[in-house]
Amino acid sequence: MTTPTIEQIMQHGSVRSYKPDPVAPETVETIVAAAQRSATSSNLQMYSVVAVTDAEKRARLKELCNNQAHIAQAPVFLAWCADLSRLDRVCRRRGYTQVTEHVESFLVAAMDASIAMQTATVAAESLGLGACYIGAIRNHPRQVIELLRLPKLTFPVCGMTLGWPAAAPRLRPRLATEAILHWERYDAGDEERYLLDYDRAMIETGIYDGRQVAVPGQEGEVEDYGWMEHSARRVSQAVRTDLRDILAEQGFDLK
Ligand SMILES: Cc1cc2nc3c(=O)[nH]c(=O)nc-3n(C[C@H](O)[C@H](O)[C@H](O)COP(=O)(O)O)c2cc1C
Repeated sequence: MTTPTIEQIMQHGSVRSYKPDPVAPETVETIVAAAQRSATSSNLQMYSVVAVTDAEKRARLKELCNNQAHIAQAPVFLAWCADLSRLDRVCRRRGYTQVTEHVESFLVAAMDASIAMQTATVAAESLGLGACYIGAIRNHPRQVIELLRLPKLTFPVCGMTLGWPAAAPRLRPRLATEAILHWERYDAGDEERYLLDYDRAMIETGIYDGRQVAVPGQEGEVEDYGWMEHSARRVSQAVRTDLRDILAEQGFDLK
């Protein structure tokens, strides 16, 4: 069973190479309006998005986000922010005090922002545009907050490059659906088979070529470097360890 929507979603690939052609402001507005149709917790709409087209600002964002070339190359950068500040202003107008210090407040706002940005991606891709999330926006949040003039009670949860793809993106295989979907109760039973299959599928894409270094002392043998090795190395390093402090500075105490 499929639909044109599912067909389009199944063609998703992150785009990291863009044509120089601009994206019309009306197109960005259409994409954000579509994103706004997403469900939000209690219709509180606890997110905002800052669209950056200015080349100098994008160059600075590139520097702040691990020097990823596609950030300066894409004509639009979208900074998706958890945003409790609007409701803080609403509370003040109505004579209330917003409770913002618990994990739940930040989680709700971060979920609202995440759901909206995925809807934006689907909308953008339906127009033939390409996008790539930029989690590296959290590498130097203080500088991003200053650059984009983000007020207290906002936080940039994720960036996104947006533009016309220079080439169709390479589609990365996914884990078998059975590895992700559990019926009635969690069951990691057949996991090893799915993981080994996926390792092979990812190696076959060539994504890890060059990472499979020779095993010392074993002629012709290369290191077993697939998705498991790549991902395990990734998650065994501590990254962005100062986020709790920066969130607190922005008014999210995460109690
Ligand atoms: C929250 C999030 C943050 C990401 N951050 C980056 C990033 O900083 N730079 C980048 O090039 N890709 C980034 N990506 C894209 C992922 O690397 C990509 O989605 C994943 O490798 C799967 O590839 P695909 O989207 O092409 O299928 C991010 C994706 C997500 C969901």
